[in-house]
Formats: sequence, structure tokens, C-alpha cells
Amino acid sequence: MPTTFATPPARSWPGAPGRVNLIGDHTDYNDGFVLPMIIDRHVEMVARRRPDRQVQIVAAESGERVDNTLGEPIDYSSPNWLPYVLGVVHELAQRGRLSSGIDIVFRGTVPRGAGLSSSAALEVATALALDTVFNLWLNPVDMARLCRDVEHRYAGVRCGIMDQFTSRLGRSDHALLIDCRSLEARHVPMSLDGHRLVIVDTGDRRELADSAYNQRRTECEKAVALLREEETSITSLRDVTPGMLSAHENRLPPDLFARCRHVVSENHRVIEACERLSTGDLPAFGRLMNASHLSLRNDFEVSHPALDRLVEEAHRVDGVLGSRLTGAGFGGCTVNLVAETALPEFEQQLKPLVDDWSLQSIVVGTPEQARVTEVIA
Ligand code: GLA
Repeated sequence: MPTTFATPPARSWPGAPGRVNLIGDHTDYNDGFVLPMIIDRHVEMVARRRPDRQVQIVAAESGERVDNTLGEPIDYSSPNWLPYVLGVVHELAQRGRLSSGIDIVFRGTVPRGAGLSSSAALEVATALALDTVFNLWLNPVDMARLCRDVEHRYAGVRCGIMDQFTSRLGRSDHALLIDCRSLEARHVPMSLDGHRLVIVDTGDRRELADSAYNQRRTECEKAVALLREEETSITSLRDVTPGMLSAHENRLPPDLFARCRHVVSENHRVIEACERLSTGDLPAFGRLMNASHLSLRNDFEVSHPALDRLVEEAHRVDGVLGSRLTGAGFGGCTVNLVAETALPEFEQQLKPLVDDWSLQSIVVGTPEQARVTEVIA
């Protein structure tokens, strides 16, 4: 990696990967279930301690550089990677974990703003770097929590924990079933039996903080407050059963009812999808992916014409078992479950609709990542 360090950095280590979510979107911040997996695109970082309180961060590809002193205020608005990297540095400094400043150089291959968790990969790469350089021995789940908090405080996105958790704890060739309430997780082996997961990028970029993401989260909170007036045991949408929802439909404005219906049904789909994946029932898994897309489009209203078009075109190809938007939505990528024999036709059908076809090969995770993801709390 090109660096601007006068001497080589002390340590380098496996990078932090992006992720693709197979099913379970907008459930994480509702204490629900998700089923993502890591992809073979990463952020790599090298770092070393400094003798002073300075922090120097360099983006290797663009040459952008930011200098700051620990504890001093800084404008986080640019470059766009700054909140994620410096946010982690400052958060750990505030918690009294950093004994000095640091030099950091990074580069990454996760496309920005595509719904593949480029920001979580930056946060986790930074946390791993600081963990190693300062011998912090951060528990992996605590590291994921810290990185999520950074996203809230420094980037203004009130995200759930799925992306950071997956980047830190995901394992090659396995999906990761996460219970976002207890933070228990299970690695689910992926045997796709003549099929592949294919990511297709609309090329439409939407910054999460600008989008309706935070608004959706607020809507879910409002729905919980209304439902609690009827059932005091409800503390999040995770606690709402389909029966409760239909019993109290008249308590909710139609849009909030639809948001709830998505979250409640999506949680069930995730659990079922996990079972289907474990038993190798890929057609059923694909049907759940399709149902998830419709629910995100119609009830949660986070799809986008370009995403719907890709999903629609995918379904024209014989051998496509499932197709859905992945991640927050509002642009970004779809994930598709495609028979290997159908890949040429899939490419012929979809490639003319997108600018960058290279993502279609980036599905299964990195072997190196397995080395840093052994511990589950
Ligand atoms: C973004 C957020 C996640 C999650 C997804 C939608 O990726 O960072 O926490 O909410 O959107 O599932």
C-alpha cells in the first residue's frame, strides 16, 4: 500500500469487509433478526503510534489527508470518509483508551454508498487498527457496538448494528444470523448447490443521512409508542406478533401500520430463510427473498425505480430463484440467487441496465477474515 509515512508502519492486518444482506432489512434497529454475509471487498489499514497527540489520516488512493489533535473540535463534513475513521479514533480517545496520537493510511474496495456497508468497513478497520496498535483487547461485539455508536454520533445516521457486527464477526462462506436484541449470532454454512449469489449495482447513490432512513426509524418508534398504549409489554417492534398488529390496526395511521407489517413479517421471513438455507431448500429461500423485496417496496417504501427495474428484469430469467434490494434501499444494489446455468442469460438481461458490472462477482467472503472472527459473545 502506498503510504506517506517516512518509515514503514509498525503493523498491518487483515482488512474489514463490506457485507451483503441476504434478507432482513430495517429489522436491526427494531431489535429483530438479520441474515447478512461478508463480501470479498474490504478496507485495509496500516497504522502506528505517534509520540505526540496528533492524528494524521491519509486515504491512499485519493491522497486526501486530514490532520487533527486528539480532543480538538473538527469539521467532519469532508472528506466523506472522515466521520467513520476519525470518529472511531475520537470515541476511543474520549473513553480514555488511547495513550497517544496515531498515523493511519487506508484504502478500500467496498463501493461507497452502494448499500454494501463501506462505512461500517471503515469503522471496523479503524477499530481493529487501534485495537492492535494500543493493545486494547476489545471484545468483538463491543467493537461492533462502538462502531455503530460512531455512525450515530459522527455521521448522523441512526443505524442498527447489522453492518458493523457483520464486518467484525462475519466469516467466509457463511451467512450470519444475528438476533439484534440479544446480539447472539450463528454462522450458517452456505451451500448453494449449483447456484450463486450475484450483486447488481444500480449505480444510484444516496447518502443515508440525507435519505429517509432516519425518518423510517422514527416512524417505527412512533408505532411502538402507539402500540404500547394497548400492550404495555411492547418495547420494540420485535415484540409485536401478527395477531397483535391486526388487533390494533385501528390505532395506527395507515403508513405506520404498513411499516409495522414489514418489520413483523420480515422477522418471520429471516427465521424461515435461515431454516431453508440450512436444509438446502433454495427455491423456498428465493421465494422469501422475493417477498422481502415486495414488502420493502410496498410497506416500508424504501425501494427505488432502478432497484425495482433490476428485480423485475431478473425475474424474466429462468433460473433466478430470488431477487431483492439489499441494505437500506433508496438506491444501491440488489442481491440475486441465480442458477449457475442461468448466469450468461442473467448477465445478458441485466448488464445493459447498469454501468458497473464488476460487482456481480463479489459475493463470497474473504478467507483472511476468518482469522479475526472467532469469538461470539
Ligand atoms: C443500513 C444500516 C443498517 C440496516 C440497513 C437496513 O445498512 O446501516 O443498520 O438498518 O440499512 O437493513
